[in-house]
Amino acid sequence: MSQLFKVPDRVKTGSQSPIQTPEQYREHYMRASFNPSDYWLEVTRRKVRWMTEPTLGLVGSYHNIAEEPIAWFSDGTLNLTETCLDQHLEKNGDKTAILWEGDEPDEIRSLTYSQLYKEVCKAASALRELGLQKGERVIIYMGMVPEAAIAMLACARLGAIHSVVFGGFSAEALRDRVRDCGAKYVITQDEGRRGGKAVPLKAVVDQALEDERLVKNVVVFKRTGTPINFNKDRDIWWHDMVEGGAESLDPVECAAEDPLFILYTSGSTGKPKGLVHTTGGYLTYTSYTHEVVFDLRDDDVYCCAADVGWITGHSYIVYGPLANGATTMMFESTPLYPDAGRYWDMVSRHKVTIFYTAPTALRALAAQDEDFVKKYDRSTLRVLGTVGEPINPDAWNWYYQVVGEGRCNIVDTWWQTETGGICISPIAPVTETAPGSATLPLPGIVPLLLDNDGHIIRGPGEGKLCLAHSWPGQARTVWEDHERYVATYFSTYPGYYFTGDGCRRDGNGYNWITGRVDDVLNVSGHRMGTAEFESALVNVDEIAEAAVVGFPHPIKGQGVYVYAVLQPGYEASEEVEKNMRMACREAIGAHAGLDQIHFVPGLPKTRSGKVMRRILRKIVEGDGDKLGDISTLANPEVVDVIRQDFKALA
Ligand code: PRX
Repeated sequence: MSQLFKVPDRVKTGSQSPIQTPEQYREHYMRASFNPSDYWLEVTRRKVRWMTEPTLGLVGSYHNIAEEPIAWFSDGTLNLTETCLDQHLEKNGDKTAILWEGDEPDEIRSLTYSQLYKEVCKAASALRELGLQKGERVIIYMGMVPEAAIAMLACARLGAIHSVVFGGFSAEALRDRVRDCGAKYVITQDEGRRGGKAVPLKAVVDQALEDERLVKNVVVFKRTGTPINFNKDRDIWWHDMVEGGAESLDPVECAAEDPLFILYTSGSTGKPKGLVHTTGGYLTYTSYTHEVVFDLRDDDVYCCAADVGWITGHSYIVYGPLANGATTMMFESTPLYPDAGRYWDMVSRHKVTIFYTAPTALRALAAQDEDFVKKYDRSTLRVLGTVGEPINPDAWNWYYQVVGEGRCNIVDTWWQTETGGICISPIAPVTETAPGSATLPLPGIVPLLLDNDGHIIRGPGEGKLCLAHSWPGQARTVWEDHERYVATYFSTYPGYYFTGDGCRRDGNGYNWITGRVDDVLNVSGHRMGTAEFESALVNVDEIAEAAVVGFPHPIKGQGVYVYAVLQPGYEASEEVEKNMRMACREAIGAHAGLDQIHFVPGLPKTRSGKVMRRILRKIVEGDGDKLGDISTLANPEVVDVIRQDFKALA
């Protein structure tokens, strides 16, 4: 059993969290497990400003999810922005809602709750002038600027559905998403800034929308002022649009289960899925978990260094913190710009109390001189969070000892785009922590480990992580493809939500996430499907077949390893590799880099023609000598060649 870290005693002032002791955690956990409907109705009445208060908790179950999607609070009505904005105006109108730091450390903007409210109303009324209606889709393709959050909230004010696409995605990936959700509006900016470089957002939008007739307008926020192509019939500047917009606008009444947003995420097969999050349950769950996990206090300066293009940005930069009336930071740059002290410089300048980032960033920073951390005052920090991938004990210890000086609670938060909010995590400062473990489930979350035959593993053990019951923040469906939702998450182990992750449970009941057990890669916390890479690679003229697997990478967590078979008559060359890299960038985006390319004579296949990824994975993990019996393969001889080549390459 590993060492448990006792959390330091702290004076509690102004904490909002209803869970302050291990006893309270147990009591809440029991109540949420035995009577989820009552538990969450009580939470939502406390956390959410409803127009019509719900009387129904959970409707539906995993057993008949194919016929009837799960619903929470379905007889309630609300507009989410009333919880995130209106309710704070009276008491907290002058409190900073969004504190923004740009790519350069001296670029700072801050918006109070009153200012944010006005900006959202102005944007919403202007979008309504353009014709945006409740239920219509808006693609937001922006960098980390406050206007991205304003655009999201403006859509929500109108009951329109936003789909934020991470600003690193390629034109092709953006086009797929615009088409899939049938967006009529796109909101973007001239350029983004990241790490001292320009990100050509508008140019990518133009390319994505070539021949797209459905998009009526592209709204362009001017971030850098660089010259851009401007299509007068379609494009409109953000500042022109909001000028004269109403500073106060009645919110549109929505049903609890009306979609709030669609967020595309990668899976084992096919194109990314548009997961649909609905309004009342998502808001309840993100505000609750943000308050409970981080032990939110009234005067916290909370900084989540994620991007709004991912679920972490939605739930824990925008919706959870604003619902809680917190001061939330938005950070445009990278942890290494202008140098490896950037995070801690920011912490000291803004007196950040809660800091939330990804293990990949911590590993990159831990590899640098400790002086980058130590020269900045970090005494305001109280809670340090991580998300997105397993955190190795070395990185955890560095975060705990070097950054937090052994004083701060570390919360290793496990969750997914699908779960909407944090599911398994320590609660600061309640849960004793263990480096590398996401520890215990939050109230309402019932994790189960299943073996390959679908049997539940009791006590300590390792298996596939499933969640037994629904919680309000769960994604309800895949946009216009409920069948795919059911097939992906509820068919492997009928009656349970299958997460796609492996997990080990120790003698304390602590959960240690071991990583994906499906064909999804997690590279620097970016989730990508091997199938997306492979379909891009086989489009390269010189490539006949390709198989992509992940391999352990010291900074990125996982690296991308490509096995490629050349078309007859072609030879491996730098040129071919360049084409392969380009194809992945074009199909997916700048974050879809290839770490290793290995040309092989063939891919190991079963007699029915299925590529044996298990074998390919084992080889790159250095276990090529422990493959067991491979004689049943259609082509066992290629395995020997691949193994030998791999040893020579390594
Ligand atoms: O494999 C798990 C990993 O990230 C996956 C979800 O990725 P995404 O939907 O992009 O959401 C990331 C941000 C919530 C999970 O299936 N993951 C996330 N958090 C952790 C994690 N793995 C281990 N420990 C975590 N704390």
